[in-house]
Amino acid sequence: MRSVGRKSISASATPRALMEEKVLANVWTARVLTLYPEMFPGPLGQSLTGRALKDGLWQLALTNIREHGLGKHRAVDDTPTGGGAGMVLRPDVLDAAIRAAPVTGPLLYLSPRGQRFDQAMARELAAGPGVTLLCGRFEGVDERVIEAHGIIEVSLGDFVLTGGEIPAMALIDATVRLLPNVLGNAASTEEESFSHGLLEHPQYTRPNDWEGRKVPDILLSGHHAAIEAWRREQAEEITRARRPDLWADYQARKDAKG
Ligand SMILES: C[S@@+](CC[C@H](N)C(=O)[O-])C[C@H]1O[C@@H](n2cnc3c(N)ncnc32)[C@H](O)[C@@H]1O
Repeated sequence: MRSVGRKSISASATPRALMEEKVLANVWTARVLTLYPEMFPGPLGQSLTGRALKDGLWQLALTNIREHGLGKHRAVDDTPTGGGAGMVLRPDVLDAAIRAAPVTGPLLYLSPRGQRFDQAMARELAAGPGVTLLCGRFEGVDERVIEAHGIIEVSLGDFVLTGGEIPAMALIDATVRLLPNVLGNAASTEEESFSHGLLEHPQYTRPNDWEGRKVPDILLSGHHAAIEAWRREQAEEITRARRPDLWADYQARKDAKG
């Protein structure tokens, strides 16, 4: 198992160098099992998540599935039993990779068949010790390894990507930004989309008049209660128009509160 951790990331660091660091106890850990460890940290090494990684607010541990491959060629896949296109990741290889990596938090397999990843799941993961993510490739993984390890399938959405690495990065990004001290302004995660079951209100900044398009007067009024009420109305209107599913849930919760 290889890891990416504290003090390990800088603008010039190579993925190989990054992977030689030790995993620290008591730091929120994203453990990723992948055939492409060199893809990490990728975008997670930039901006807020990158700074937080460097500051030791979270760490990344990588398991290269290939290292558990079979024979001289380190084979990791085989043809689908019963016929069909493509290749399937072998259960014995994945099992060895999972056993070699101390599992942190829930063990999730990124998969289009899984339950949809959302902000509530990100919050739940951020509240725990970390997450272990299995990235599929080809036609996916042998069903028996999912059963044997009680792996939870999680989807990023109703589309098919070539591998689980991009969904893993998206899941980690959404979760890490909720960890304490990662964002400068914690209030921003309380007010943003999904936090109250609503999409976010429109945002504006300077200039107040841009090519004849003016910022709504209310936002310049200095009346905080009125601004808050306007933002809430806008958030409700946008949610109602764009996401009837979220709107129905929001209304049901409001009705239940009375
Ligand atoms: C080409 S896909 C396999 C798709 C699979 N044959 C199916 O139809 O469900 C290869 C890998 O990409 C990842 N993947 C693709 N789409 C995804 C999605 N929407 N959410 C999460 N992971 C996805 C999974 O890890 C999957 O094993």
